[in-house]
Amino acid sequence: MKIFIDTANIDEIREAVTLGVIDGVTTNPTLLSREIERTGNESSAILKEICDIVKGPVSGEVIALEAGKMVEEARKLAVIDEHVVIKIPMTEEGLKAVSILSNEGINTNVTLVFSAVQAMLAAKAGATYVSPFVGRLDDTSTIGMDLVEEIKTVFENYQFKTEIIVASVRSPLHVLESAIIGADIATIPFKVIRQLLKHPLTDIGIERFLSDWDKIKK
Ligand code: G3P
Repeated sequence: MKIFIDTANIDEIREAVTLGVIDGVTTNPTLLSREIERTGNESSAILKEICDIVKGPVSGEVIALEAGKMVEEARKLAVIDEHVVIKIPMTEEGLKAVSILSNEGINTNVTLVFSAVQAMLAAKAGATYVSPFVGRLDDTSTIGMDLVEEIKTVFENYQFKTEIIVASVRSPLHVLESAIIGADIATIPFKVIRQLLKHPLTDIGIERFLSDWDKIKK
């Protein structure tokens, strides 16, 4: 499974990349606005820097809600770097924009997907990626990971090439379930990536090995 980091924070991305497990980045207007506030940099400069660091797919979201305006915005974002992927919300206008952009060879990530039929339409319109938001479904007492399973089945039934990015990941369990289902990608906040690599028995093991080693040296 590919691992994307879900952040626009350059420091986090730099740090995470050193782990050797990061394949791409997803941002959204919330995450980018935080980074703009933190650094004072413009969003295009931030996206460019992220692309230079990661050299893999980097999602940047359009703000417009009307198809023509989305396409205009997307074209501007796409020239920032070859790795930029245009994040488009799952709406009627969004689908129109995805269809135009996919004909132009511009990669898209259809976001805010909350049903398998939405994902199917996005795939048919030519989306490169779809992003089901599992955590936000969990927040409404609906099992978010069930949606990922449904999308996986639909995409396999019809051999859609669109990749599934499990988004709104809140815990290591979301990541484990994504991998078991066979999602293509999980986009994960840095805090959860750190949680993934920890196990209390690993820490206890290191402590014991070192204390035994120390005994023999004395
Ligand atoms: O990838 C989408 C993600 O940023 C949303 O996460 O935790 O705000 O639902 P969350």
